[in-house]
This record gives sequence, structure tokens and C-alpha cells, in this order.
Amino acid sequence: MKGIILHGGHGTRLRPLTHTGPKQLLPIANKPMSQYALEDLKNAGITDIGIIIGDVHPDKVKEYYGDGKKFGVSINYICQDQPKGISHAISLCKDFVSNDKFVVYLGDNVLRKSLVDYVKKFQNSESDAIILLCKVDEPQRFGIAELDKTLGTIKKIIEKPKIPASDLAVIGIYFLTPKIFDIIDQLKPSWRGELEITDALQLLMDKKNKIEYDLVTGWWKDTGTPEDIIHANKLVLDSIGTENQFLIDADSTIKDGVVIGKNTEISTDSLIVGPAIIGENCKIGPAVKMGPYVSIGKNCILKNCNIENSIIMNDCTINTETNFSCSIIAHGSEILDSKTEENKFLLGERSSIQI
Ligand code: G1P
Repeated sequence: MKGIILHGGHGTRLRPLTHTGPKQLLPIANKPMSQYALEDLKNAGITDIGIIIGDVHPDKVKEYYGDGKKFGVSINYICQDQPKGISHAISLCKDFVSNDKFVVYLGDNVLRKSLVDYVKKFQNSESDAIILLCKVDEPQRFGIAELDKTLGTIKKIIEKPKIPASDLAVIGIYFLTPKIFDIIDQLKPSWRGELEITDALQLLMDKKNKIEYDLVTGWWKDTGTPEDIIHANKLVLDSIGTENQFLIDADSTIKDGVVIGKNTEISTDSLIVGPAIIGENCKIGPAVKMGPYVSIGKNCILKNCNIENSIIMNDCTINTETNFSCSIIAHGSEILDSKTEENKFLLGERSSIQI
């Protein structure tokens, strides 16, 4: 079986974070979110992987994943020049897929449960597709499946319905066979100008092909907005263990599951409450209160601040007696105390601050 990870799209709802790279490389618990997809596929025995890259810094995706060797997989890159939809992206993989069954994984989806059972089930199944469904609070945001409860089958699949017939979202992991390529050839662009995966699945059913479904247990997260990313960070950190290779001085305290990288120093009157993760070579302290649910990247310097439920990426400096909550601070940012009466900001397009 082959795996395909979708790594394109413009991530407009995540600007300014996506001005400098694709959304799927944004870190959740210090790991690019698409790496969770890659590791899920690999752990289910799928090591022949196609990554579909778009036009937002595709070089950064290639630079990070390379040929896949260091992740234990083999990677082919397939270019989608414009974001014309998930079905369009899948249609570009016809040669790569050849006659195999395959799994399409949206690189901005994160799933708690491993794929192993689903992959086994699909391997032994005669179905032309298996989709995974998850109960959601805002069904208007997703592809939605309506079930025939007596027959145990899917009645209808609709993309972002205004009046949803159920609260069961079709999550962004699809088990498909090459039959889907002929179906996609017959699709027309939707109201948002995309070839929708939900339209392809509906047409597959209309043509009397068999689609099965499974209900996802545990959590699943589509990380379309900054709030979703903060929430995904919390969900992933909830299952993080404790791994400490740090230097901590006597008057600082570390509580609960905290992963701390090599050469990181925690000093003078600091309190770190897990779940949390701190990368290598950071200097935390004096007087830092951190956690729960905080991810700090590599090479960060934090002093005097109070941070909870937030993501700070690599190479950031924060030195201010300020409280941070539900914040995402991108690579190389600085937040310092003002030396004058006035605050001084240098903020990129679509930045958001509340003081
Ligand atoms: C896409 C699919 C939608 C699915 C969702 C899952 O939506 O079109 O059917 O429920 O991914 O993440 P999009 O992210 O393009 O809005």
C-alpha cells in the first residue's frame, strides 16, 4: 500500500504564520504537524510515500523531509501548482500509485489513534474506499456523512453543508483504490473552485462502488486556525511523557510530564508545570512560570515571563514581565520590555496582539 501526504494549500486562516512556510510545517509539541502523518503511515507499514507540495515554500518541505531516509521511508515529491482541491491533488498521483491501494493523509490533520488497524482492515477488504468519521461541534466546517443506521451504510457525503444532516465529519484520512482516478476525471469544481474529495466519494457511491466507514475513537484535529493549533498542541502534550536531560538549579521546580532537550538550563526561581516540552539549548529563567500546555522550540531565551497554553518556535527571546496565554510566536521573534514609556512593535502582515 502507498501513502500520500497533502502538503499544499495557502493556509490563509493561519497568516501571518504561513507567510514564510506551508502550514503543515508549523510545529505541534515541537514537531511539524505533517510529521505526525508521516509517522502514522510508517508505523502502519507504509513506507512508499508521495508528498504533494504546493506553491508556498515547497523548498522548505523538501529540505525538511529530504528523500525520507532519516524518517525510515522513501519520499517522492509531486507538485500541485495551484490549490485546486484534494481530488485534484489525488489525480496528480496516478503514476505514483499505479495499481496499489493507497492512503491519502491531509498533512494538517492529526489523529490520536494509530492507523495500524485501519490499514489492516483495508488491506483485507473488497471495498473501493474506507473513510473515517468523527463527531464534531461545527459540522458546517467539514465534509459530512449521513448514515443509514438500519443498513449500517453511508447515505450521502456532502462538503460543508449549510444545514448538516449529521455531526459526523469525514476526516482527512482516506483509504482509496485506483478506481478513484476515473471518478475524479468526471468531477466539476465546487462553489469554492476546487475538486472536492467529498464529491469524488459521493460519485464513487453513486456508481455503485462499495465504501465502508469507521468511527474514530479518541481525538482527531483539523488544524485550520490558530485556535485549532493551540488545541492540537494541548491534545498532543497530554500524552507526552517525561524526558529530562536538563540542568536545573535548586530553587526552580519542575512538575508533571515535561520533556526538556539537551543543554537546556532552567535557572533561578522558575516553575515549569507539565505537560510541556522545551527544546535543546534554551535558557529559561530567572523567574519564568511556564505551563501547562506549552511547547518551546530550540535555542530560546525566556526571562521573567508567565506562559501557558502556547507555542513558541525556535530562536525566540522573551524578556518581559508579561502573561502569555493561547499565543503562537514564530521562529526568531523577540518580545522585550520597553526601555521607554512607549511600546515598540515590528509586526508582520495579519499579526494579532492584545494588550
Ligand atoms: C477538507 C475536506 C473536508 C474534510 C476536512 C478534514 O476540508 O474538504 O471534507 O472534512 O478537510 O480536515 P478543508 O480543510 O479543505 O476545508
